[in-house]
Amino acid sequence: MKFFIDTAEVKDIIELNKLGIVDGVTTNPSLVLKSGKNMVEVIKEISNLVDGPISAEVVSAQSDGMIAEGLELLKISKNIAVKIPLTWEGLKACQVLSDNGAMVNITLCFSVNQALLAAKAGAAFISPFVGRLDDINVEGMSLIADIKQVYDNYNFHTEILVASIRTVNHITEAALIGADIVTVPPKIIKQLADHPLTSAGLEVFNQDWLKTGQKII
Ligand code: E4P
Repeated sequence: MKFFIDTAEVKDIIELNKLGIVDGVTTNPSLVLKSGKNMVEVIKEISNLVDGPISAEVVSAQSDGMIAEGLELLKISKNIAVKIPLTWEGLKACQVLSDNGAMVNITLCFSVNQALLAAKAGAAFISPFVGRLDDINVEGMSLIADIKQVYDNYNFHTEILVASIRTVNHITEAALIGADIVTVPPKIIKQLADHPLTSAGLEVFNQDWLKTGQKII
């Protein structure tokens, strides 16, 4: 399973990239706002750091505008994935850009039918938002399992990019289902390393090591 980082904060990407665990980056208008930076500049900065797909989102409502913005974003770097919302207009733009060889990440997906349409329109990635479904008391991870089943049934090549991740359990479940990618906020990526038994075990080892009076170096 690939790890994308769900952020426009360059310092976080640099830190996680050092571990070699960053397979791509996703951004959206809210994350760009949070970064306080110019969108094109921050996407350029990120694409210089990470080789994998960098999702940059269009903001037009009509397909023509989305296509024009997508073509502009594609000029930033060869690893840009144009992120397009799952609307009828978005699907039209997806088809055109995908036909021209662009990677398209279809975002704001909340149903299997939407995911089916995105695959038919040639999307490279489908982004179902699990956290936002959980927020309204709908089991987000069930959607991932259902999309996986449907894509497998028909051998669609669109990759399932699990988005709106809020907990480390989302990541475990995505991996068990066999999702292709998770896009994760930096804070949650770091939580993956935590376990109370690791902390407790280390505490005991450290105390016992002090009692030995030894040093390694
Ligand atoms: C990623 O592509 C999405 O933009 C992101 O995961 C949304 O997450 P949120 O629901 O926490 O805003």
